[in-house]
Amino acid sequence: MSSKQYSQNTPNASKNAMMSPVFIQRYVENKAEVRAELQQGLLAKVATTSPKYLYDALGSRLFEAITELPEYYPTRVEASIFEQFLPEIAAAVGHGDILIDLGAGNCEKAARMFEALGPAKYVAVDISVDFLKQALTTLQRQSPDLPMLGLGMDFSASLELPVEVGTGSRSFFYPGSSIGNFTPTEALLFLRQIHTACKQGAGQGGLLIGVDLVKSSTVLQAAYADALGVTAAFNRNMLLHINQLLGSDFNIAQWQHRALFNTDLSRIEMHLDATEDLTVRWEGGERKFVKNEGIHTENSYKYTVASFTKLLENAGFQAVKPWQDANQQFCVFWAKA
Ligand SMILES: C[S@@+](CC[C@H](N)C(=O)[O-])C[C@H]1O[C@@H](n2cnc3c(N)ncnc32)[C@H](O)[C@@H]1O
Repeated sequence: MSSKQYSQNTPNASKNAMMSPVFIQRYVENKAEVRAELQQGLLAKVATTSPKYLYDALGSRLFEAITELPEYYPTRVEASIFEQFLPEIAAAVGHGDILIDLGAGNCEKAARMFEALGPAKYVAVDISVDFLKQALTTLQRQSPDLPMLGLGMDFSASLELPVEVGTGSRSFFYPGSSIGNFTPTEALLFLRQIHTACKQGAGQGGLLIGVDLVKSSTVLQAAYADALGVTAAFNRNMLLHINQLLGSDFNIAQWQHRALFNTDLSRIEMHLDATEDLTVRWEGGERKFVKNEGIHTENSYKYTVASFTKLLENAGFQAVKPWQDANQQFCVFWAKA
């Protein structure tokens, strides 16, 4: 796999600049594989796109705005769990590991753990490459002595990590219930890959993960269809991102956001529905949509503490420790590799 690697160091750099984060970019947007994957999804019987395409630089900023919304409880509740149980969590995770943040976004959640965990290195992984570079550069200024590595990669393709991550004990950090974007079968495979990657480090290692729990459909649906329409903008922005990646001609004025809780499958589904009969075209293909026909853009599976503990154990993790908020809305797990 080809990758670009650089740091912003210069020979005359000051101490802070010398600690500029190293960045390795493996994910490149304008690749034939990306176009092929998008095309295959759009031509499926029920048109489907991976939620990873929600995150271009604007999508990442819109997600930050979502986390501020009154309806979007997961970020706030997860933060309250970390705040309340930080000493216990830090004791379980241990001190001085390489902290590997999957889907790091603005890196804020990991940064709040630095003091308690004292990581030997911070590795931030994200597909939204430009947004990650900016976030990590800012963070490096705030923590100039902590070695940082940015990895621009699509971990749904492979979690194979470069040697630059290092060989020390590895603690993976996967907050925000992003694991819910995978089906339970895919989640098991992904957790197994994390388990294998932990074992490639020197120490015991493990996974600190935030998981959203099953709750009332009303609360869940409101979290993914807020009154202000920020989640709708986040979802519809994906069509602009796809236009860039595929050269398609989606007109966002013809699409509306819909979110529902599928009780049987225990998942929130996000869709974009055509508001009229239309045809979307790109080089080498087209897809006709009739009015109200949708594109399935994201799933967010909800678990119970018991069902997620079992998933972690089936993936090879042990000594699973859960921490929940008082209303049992969200759970943070530490699982030893
Ligand atoms: C729900 S946001 C969570 C951001 C942050 N960790 C938090 O908890 O607030 C998901 C993050 O994962 C990244 N992401 C989504 N799919 C990815 C993939 N396949 N590979 C790498 N990063 C991905 C997105 O760019 C985004 O930053």
